[in-house]
Amino acid sequence: MERIFQTDSAFAKEMDRKDPLKNVRDRFYVQPGEIYMDGNSLGLASKDAEKALLNMLDIWKKEGIKLWDALFHYAGKLGEMSAPLINAYPDEIVITGSTTTNIHQCISTLYKPTKDRYKILVDDLNFPTDRYAIDSQVRLRGYDPSEAVKVVKSSDGRLIDESAVIEAMTEDVAIILLPTVLYRSSQVLDMKRVTEAAHQRGILIGWDLCHAIGAVPMDFKDVDPDFAVWCTYKYLSAGPGSIAGLYMNRKHFKETPGLAGWWGNKDDTQFELKHEFEHQHDASGWQIGSPSFLAMAPLEGTLTIFNEIGMDKIREKSLSITAYLMYLIDEKLAKYGYTVGNPREDSKRGGHVCLEHEEAYRICKALKKNNIIPDFREPNVIRLAPIALYNTYEEVHTLVATLEDIAINKTYEEFSNERTLVV
Ligand SMILES: Cc1ncc(COP(=O)(O)O)c(C=O)c1O
Repeated sequence: MERIFQTDSAFAKEMDRKDPLKNVRDRFYVQPGEIYMDGNSLGLASKDAEKALLNMLDIWKKEGIKLWDALFHYAGKLGEMSAPLINAYPDEIVITGSTTTNIHQCISTLYKPTKDRYKILVDDLNFPTDRYAIDSQVRLRGYDPSEAVKVVKSSDGRLIDESAVIEAMTEDVAIILLPTVLYRSSQVLDMKRVTEAAHQRGILIGWDLCHAIGAVPMDFKDVDPDFAVWCTYKYLSAGPGSIAGLYMNRKHFKETPGLAGWWGNKDDTQFELKHEFEHQHDASGWQIGSPSFLAMAPLEGTLTIFNEIGMDKIREKSLSITAYLMYLIDEKLAKYGYTVGNPREDSKRGGHVCLEHEEAYRICKALKKNNIIPDFREPNVIRLAPIALYNTYEEVHTLVATLEDIAINKTYEEFSNERTLVV
């Protein structure tokens, strides 16, 4: 889509004035004097999330053990509230565990290796926890990951070629796990094309939505994947370590969970406390232990915001504000060694811009000194996420002016290149 931008700050102010989402920013705790560009890593707290959390605390204070009556299906209720974000059936989603434990849960349920079909297909750019989980799952079945985990390699370290993924879907592949949006380069994979190709070859497929959920609308009724997992602390702003999402396609509801626990038991017999597990035949049947209400409640607050606005409007602003950032990078920063590392087409990029520079690490430190919060990823990536719900065009303008100043005056030179735990 063609968008016309200008480099002056008056243009940014005008874009903000016309922004249909401009009032949503007030619902978030944006810190005065700080420009937060890291909502793709840890989303900002909102008043809605705070209210939901305090409400949960209040319920605990007043109700004690009686709270279970009202909240018995809370994980499913949050699943239902999440369904519009990916256009799934509400009973296919549960809020439970972490992304990593949910990968373990889904793989241990659906991975049924046989002598001829025993490999798990992955890519080499996904976030490492996915790979650790997959390697340990094949090990648990007695295989050596170097043999049973088939890795599609990126040709440039940035992007994954869907055709290469499809070519790697050989007859020995049992199941696939891929990211929908790549955490570093922001590339969006064509879920529909890849999922269809997998199914045509008798292969199951699941997606890690961590960098897609809340940024990119998805249509699971159309894509029809077998499973999916996601965290809720990035674009969904549900808080550090907030409880994750698990999607299980209805066609697998009868499968016994690989990791069973009493919260996956049928609702009506759970408190009979029998030693025979009776599986609940919807996504809530993939819960393991007691749901963590205090860590889940903020998600209820932010999902209210997402459902009020709808993913289409969120994506529209996200695409516009990231396009504006790329435009300013081209106009103002390209001459100082900054390059855009993400795909440029709307359909191929997620919610963050991948800005590359050989001094990326020290530039991130210099940005922080200027009260701008970016995110560094090895080896040379500054991830910048102007979030549709709370960032402004004016902030993007200031960000680029600061990046320009840092490059011109080489202010990054005052920082060491030695890596510390958190940049
Ligand atoms: C693609 C992806 N998967 C998983 C995770 C993290 O997993 P968990 O939520 O279990 O910590 C991240 C964290 O940034 C991620 O980017």
